[in-house]
Amino acid sequence: MKKKLLITGASGFLGWNICVNAASEWHVFGVCNTNSVNVGRVTSIRLNLIDYAELRNVFSDIRPDAVIHAAAYSQPNYCERNPLETRKVNVEVPSNIAGLCADFRVPCVFTSSDLVFDGLKPPYAETSEVNPICVYGEQKAEAEEAMLRRYPETAICRMPLMFGYTEGAGKSFDPQMIRTLLEGKRIRLFSDEYRTPVDSESAAKGLLLMLSKVRGIIHLGGRTRISRYEMGQIVARLLNIDKSLIKPVLQNDISMPARRPPDVSLVSSKAYTIGYDPHDIEAAYQEILIRSKFLSGVQK
Ligand SMILES: NC(=O)c1ccc[n+]([C@@H]2O[C@H](COP(=O)([O-])OP(=O)(O)OC[C@H]3O[C@@H](n4cnc5c(N)ncnc54)[C@H](OP(=O)(O)O)[C@@H]3O)[C@@H](O)[C@H]2O)c1
Repeated sequence: MKKKLLITGASGFLGWNICVNAASEWHVFGVCNTNSVNVGRVTSIRLNLIDYAELRNVFSDIRPDAVIHAAAYSQPNYCERNPLETRKVNVEVPSNIAGLCADFRVPCVFTSSDLVFDGLKPPYAETSEVNPICVYGEQKAEAEEAMLRRYPETAICRMPLMFGYTEGAGKSFDPQMIRTLLEGKRIRLFSDEYRTPVDSESAAKGLLLMLSKVRGIIHLGGRTRISRYEMGQIVARLLNIDKSLIKPVLQNDISMPARRPPDVSLVSSKAYTIGYDPHDIEAAYQEILIRSKFLSGVQK
């Protein structure tokens, strides 16, 4: 019989990818709240994670062998505007999940973020000092600490910017950007904001690997330091679209509720040595464009 994996955020962008990649090896239980889990072979559980009694019941009923906690308010601007509402989900819920994983003695993986850093002294290793500059980053840093306090066995996986394919689950900036470009309209992308992005399939596989390999903090960044503007240029090249439709813009040119760090590139060599092997960005985009039917398979 397959072991049982509880995945929160299963209706979201990353959670969808984790469910898809886990379903052959695990009996997956996917938690959703306002949206649905849209993956075959996954048992869907509708639950507002804020409800601790119900969350505990889910653990008691299912008795998972492992947990990946990927649910969150994932949009920094929303967190900045709604710090109290989002703190419940982004700090209290992870802390409770770590406590339950400790009680049930099962591996726990948490999806933190590169936004725990201020972006002023890149690249960042696991030992680098955190110094978030937005509410979302503060919440992630607080969640990391709370989880490790309650359950030091937790694998805290700091995720970079992710891009990828889902069948409509969650929020990813790519499909909208691609549609706009295909309509021949201009888009503006930051040329002075650097990350080490990774495709969501590589990220999902990495998180599943970390279930058995890691306790404490680990970085799951991609291998390439790149700006969003340069990512857009890759997409335009693959789609054979006029690259001048993409206009470079500076962070200072656009005002947003949440401050944006200039460069939160991650050093992820620790993860690479234990088998995390993210795809090259261009190859990943090509695959995503084909799966999303933006590109014909013959060009592969
Ligand atoms: N996307 C990125 O580039 C990125 C980068 C770094 C880190 N991360 C982290 O990676 C994780 C996944 O991000 P994502 O992009 O997949 O986010 P997403 O697409 O916005 O999905 C968020 C998920 O959280 C669930 N959720 C939110 N509040 C909930 C609640 N009260 N009870 C139950 N479920 C709740 C949502 O469920 P419903 O939709 O059903 O309500 C959804 O499944 C998050 O921890 C995020 O902070 C993401």
